[in-house]
Amino acid sequence: MSTPDQQFAFYDLHPPMDDMTAEVCSGMRESPKKLSPKFFYDERGSQLFEAITRLDAYYPTRTELGLFDAHLEEITQTIGLDSCVVEYGSGSSLKIRKLLQALSPSAYVPIDISKDFLLHNARTLAEDFPALHVFPVCADFSQAIALPPQTDGMHRVGFFPGSSIGNFEPEPARTFLARVAGTLGSGGHLLIGVDCKKDTKTLELAYNDPEGVTAQFNLNALVHLNRVLNTDFDPQAFAHEAHYNESYGCIQMFLRSLVDQRVDVCGEHIHFCAGERLHTENSYKYTPAEFGQLAGSAGFDIQRQWLDDSNYFGLYLLRAR
Ligand code: AVJ
Repeated sequence: MSTPDQQFAFYDLHPPMDDMTAEVCSGMRESPKKLSPKFFYDERGSQLFEAITRLDAYYPTRTELGLFDAHLEEITQTIGLDSCVVEYGSGSSLKIRKLLQALSPSAYVPIDISKDFLLHNARTLAEDFPALHVFPVCADFSQAIALPPQTDGMHRVGFFPGSSIGNFEPEPARTFLARVAGTLGSGGHLLIGVDCKKDTKTLELAYNDPEGVTAQFNLNALVHLNRVLNTDFDPQAFAHEAHYNESYGCIQMFLRSLVDQRVDVCGEHIHFCAGERLHTENSYKYTPAEFGQLAGSAGFDIQRQWLDDSNYFGLYLLRAR
C-alpha cells in the first residue's frame, strides 16, 4: 500500500514457487536429459554472466549498448513524456540506467521472480533516481500481470534487453509477447533487444570464449544443484559444449559426460553414459524479418528498428495494437 506521492512501493504477487526437485528430476529422466537455464543464476552464476558480457567474443552486450548510445535520443522522442518503464527482469545493469536517464519516466516498475534481488536493485535505483517513482513487482513475468494502480493512465513502456527472448522456444516466445502486449495495453511500447542470425563462426565463438568463462558458467549449474538440491554432480566429469543448430536457428549448450557415471539426484540414481549430453540452454536468433513476424503475430507493430553496422544485433521499438 502507498500514498499517491510515495516514491517507493513494493507489490508482491506471490509467484508460486515451483518444485525444484521435481523439475530437475523430470528433466534428468528425459531423453536427451535436460536442465532449465534458470539454474545458471545463483550468485556465482550471475557474476559469471556479468563476466561473459565483458568478453571480446561475446558481442551482444556491447553491440546493444552501442545501439542504445546511438539511438536513445530518437527512442525518447518517439516515446514522449509521462511514461512508466516496465522492466521484465530486474535491472542492475547499465542499460536500465541509460534508459531511465534519457527518458526521465514518471515511474519505473521492475518485475522479477526473485524477491530479494528485486528489492535490492529497486531500492538502489530509487536512491540514485530520487525523482523517480519505483514500484517493484514480485511476479513470474511470463504470466499476465496487473501493474500498480499508480501507473494507470501513464504511457507504458516495456523493456526487455539482452536478447533474453532467445531463451524461449519460438511458440512460448509468441505467447509471452502477447501477454506483454496485454499488460502494457493498446498503444504501449516495448523496447526489446534481439540477437540476429549470423555466420556460425561468430555465433559459436560467443559461446565458446577462449578464456573459458562460458564453460565455467555452464558447469556452475551443477555446483548450484549440488548446493541447493544436495545432488553429487562432479563438475570435473563434464565438459562444456555449445553449437549453433542451423535448422532450429539457435545456439544449444550442453554438458557432456566425460565418463560412464552415476549421479545421485534427489535419491534417484541417474546414469550418464560416457559421451552422453545434458542439454542446458537454447538461445534463439532472429533475422529482423523473422522477429517482425513473431512480434506481429503477438499483437505488436514494429515502430522503429535499429541494427549495428555488422547486423549482429537488433533493437526494436514495438507498439501494442
Ligand atoms: C541470457 C539468453 C541472453 O543466450 O546469450 C550467454 C545467456 N548463455 N552465454 C545468451 C548466455 C551463455 C544469454 N541470454
